Amino acid sequence: MGEKGMAVTYSVYAFDAYGTLFDVHAAVRRYASALGPQADALSEMWRTKQLEYSWNRSLMGRYRDFWALTEDALDYCFARIGRVDLPLRAQLLDAYFSLECYEEVPGLLARLRAGGAKLAILSNGTPKMLAAAIANAGIGALLDAVISVDEMRIFKTAPQIYQNLIDRFGVPPGEISFQSSNRWDIAGAAAMGLRTVWINRSNAPDEYTDLPPAAIRQSLVGLLAL
Ligand code: LAC
Repeated sequence: MGEKGMAVTYSVYAFDAYGTLFDVHAAVRRYASALGPQADALSEMWRTKQLEYSWNRSLMGRYRDFWALTEDALDYCFARIGRVDLPLRAQLLDAYFSLECYEEVPGLLARLRAGGAKLAILSNGTPKMLAAAIANAGIGALLDAVISVDEMRIFKTAPQIYQNLIDRFGVPPGEISFQSSNRWDIAGAAAMGLRTVWINRSNAPDEYTDLPPAAIRQSLVGLLAL
C-alpha cells in the first residue's frame, strides 16, 4: 500500500504505448487545417499501414524499426492522396516522435505506483521514440521498465515479445495486467497467458474472440475500478 492507501490488484501493470498511452491521432490533429478534409482519413491510413508493415516484416523476417515504418507509412499516405509536401511531412513526423499522452495517463500511473505496483511499457516503438513521448508526457519517473521490441528485431504479436515482458519481471503471466487499445495486441498477450484489459477507446466491435480480454474499459480511468 502506498501513501494514498490504494491497494493494487496486480503486482505488474504493463502498457502498450501507441494508441493506449499516447494518442496516435494527435500528430495529424495538430496539422488538420493544413491537411484539409483528408486529415482524418490520412491519420487512419497512416496507422493502418504502419501496423501492416510491422506484421508483414515480422512474417518475412525483414525487420525495419518502427520509426522507419512510421516514415514509410506516411510516404505511402502522401502518395495515395497525390500530394508531396516535404515541410508538412517533417512537421507530422516531428509531432509523431513526441506524441501527446491521453489526459488520464500521468494521474493513473501515479496512483498505481503509489499502490505498490511495478509499471512497464511494452511497445513496438523504438527506444528513441518512446523516450521522446515519455519525456513529453512527464511519466519517466513512474516507469520501472520501458521494453521495446527493437532489441528482439520482431514486432508484436510474436510470442517472444510478450515472453520477454514475463521474463523481465519473473512473475507468472497471470500476475501481469497488460493494457492495450489494440485488440490484436490483447489477443497476442492473452495467447501468452497475460491478464489483459482491452482499452476500447473507439467502441470497436470485438474480434479474435477465441483470445478474449479479461476486462474491457473505454479508457484507462476504468482500470482503477478493477
Ligand atoms: C505499440 C503499438 C503497436 O506501442 O501500439 O506497440
